[in-house]
Amino acid sequence: MMDVRRHPKIDLMTSSTIESVSGYVGNFHVKVKKSPRYVVEGECTACGDCAKVCPVMVPDEYQEGFSHRKAIYIPFPQAVPSAYVLDMENCLGNNPIACGKCFEACLKKCVDYDMTDEFVEFDVGAVVVATGMKTYDPTELDEFGYKRFQNVVTTLEFERLLSEGGPTGGHLVRPTDLRQPRRVGFIQCVGSRSRKRGNAHCGNICCMNTVKDTLLLSDHYPDVECTVFYIDIRAFGKGFEEMFVRSKEAGVRYLRGIPGEINETPEGNLVLSAENSSTGRIENHEFDMVVLSTGVEPSEGTEDERRKRTRSKAPDGFLLESHPKLKPVDAPTKGVFFAGCAESPKDVKDSVTQASAAASRAGILLSKGEVRIEAVTSRLVEDLCVMCGMCAKVCPYNAIVPPDKAQGRKPVIIEAACAGCGTCAAECRFGAIEMRHFTDGQITAQIDALLEDKPGEKILAFACNWCSFAGGDGAGTARIQYPPSQRIVRTMCSGRVDEKFVLRAFEKGAAMVLVSGCHFSDCHYISAVRWTQKRVERLWDKLERIGTRPERLQLEWISAAEGVKFARVMTELEEMRKQVTPEEIAETVRVLSEKSGAGKKAAKASAEAQD
Ligand code: FES
Repeated sequence: MMDVRRHPKIDLMTSSTIESVSGYVGNFHVKVKKSPRYVVEGECTACGDCAKVCPVMVPDEYQEGFSHRKAIYIPFPQAVPSAYVLDMENCLGNNPIACGKCFEACLKKCVDYDMTDEFVEFDVGAVVVATGMKTYDPTELDEFGYKRFQNVVTTLEFERLLSEGGPTGGHLVRPTDLRQPRRVGFIQCVGSRSRKRGNAHCGNICCMNTVKDTLLLSDHYPDVECTVFYIDIRAFGKGFEEMFVRSKEAGVRYLRGIPGEINETPEGNLVLSAENSSTGRIENHEFDMVVLSTGVEPSEGTEDERRKRTRSKAPDGFLLESHPKLKPVDAPTKGVFFAGCAESPKDVKDSVTQASAAASRAGILLSKGEVRIEAVTSRLVEDLCVMCGMCAKVCPYNAIVPPDKAQGRKPVIIEAACAGCGTCAAECRFGAIEMRHFTDGQITAQIDALLEDKPGEKILAFACNWCSFAGGDGAGTARIQYPPSQRIVRTMCSGRVDEKFVLRAFEKGAAMVLVSGCHFSDCHYISAVRWTQKRVERLWDKLERIGTRPERLQLEWISAAEGVKFARVMTELEEMRKQVTPEEIAETVRVLSEKSGAGKKAAKASAEAQD
């Protein structure tokens, strides 16, 4: 941290939050709110005279509430900058009757009670998101008695008790009677890997953290008995298995089974009941202290970041990278990169690795001085635009500046930010957005050509480039057999599949139409696939209204790895196609032709010919 502070090219802003980031790759505009420290940072010498006279004592967050701090304090010993900060929520104030002691004690007069929020704005070319994570609060898991029994602590609390910089100077004592525990139990996966309570995902770091703690404990206190209750130990990193083996060799007992209940004895000891799944027996174990190895979850800052900028999160709540294999540190928004636990739970090594990669990715971008943008982008047809603003609303990338009706300004498409999913074009009811490549004309021509001959025997499938189309490829290369009745129209994203394309296919006599795309969290255009679903639901209603069975339009999510599913879907669709009668196809064609005007024109022309 000191290196970062001293670096001539790094501007370290503490006590600051990002208010907004606008713009696009290479041209981000950032607005930062700096909260007041109430101590002039550059003047404070950290002499501590202010804290000595401060009469307020509040639980110290850094020590997990095991000790107290003053209202004017340094958050933790290694804090950068090494300057005091005033906790205004707990400060008694500068009224001399109430307090004002720190101001009097400070020889340099650094304390300033009148400081206010400060806003700073600047431009940057790239953004690295490192919003970290927080640990799971196990209070809701009543069976473990956290907060009811003082000797049940979380991993973080245990680490403070074990740390030389902790409240006890590194002497492990249990909270109730400050005695050194002789038997310590660890419970793994607390708040992790559970669909009912806590989080469904694995905390990733908890197993090895416990292994490390047991080694530290055996090293400092060889006579302490450690028992670890676990589901399975995930020691998958470099040197981790060896560490796990060392822990076992040091005498730590590993017992497969998670306790169902903890009870406290009158002496403050804790009795755990657990089914030992290796023996199938219910066992009771008594400990002086129990450590809950809590899982991790996204920080509040991560959710804030998602809402404001990247807009993309995985089902576990962490930010979703652009591509899990090819772009693991890139956000879906160009010019934004992830470092550390913002993207998924990570240990220090993995966080440093990702941070290095993110810095390199940003460095490559900035050193080039120019950015390659997608060839497939959208374009506004100004004459057709009625300024409804729908295009801006559906854009997953914030690449469209909404129209300003009062000023008469049409929406503005920022091409550098557009990824080319085509959702705006598909959702615009007025045809005011055109795509460069995958144009309406090109897609319609494909539909017409594919359904030119015997359309009633065909299934027209729209498949997104990244998943469904690749799933079809997978089925082909794996030589998986499926009926040859489908004809595929590829689009970059299923979000591009306009209602009119589907209706055109039915109008041309297709027996069945399939819209397929990536699974929800896999869409390569953040949330575009959600608009696909809404559109298909609208289409089902529409088909019903015109007397066409909605089942003739199917929606499926098929990933690139699901060649087998692709083949199965096609086989099922073929079975459905066989149920579609020529009469119902003809009726759909008639209704849609009339609607599109072609039918009316044809009728008029034939009437004129008859005359
Ligand atoms: Fe496949 Fe969006 S990229 S549905």
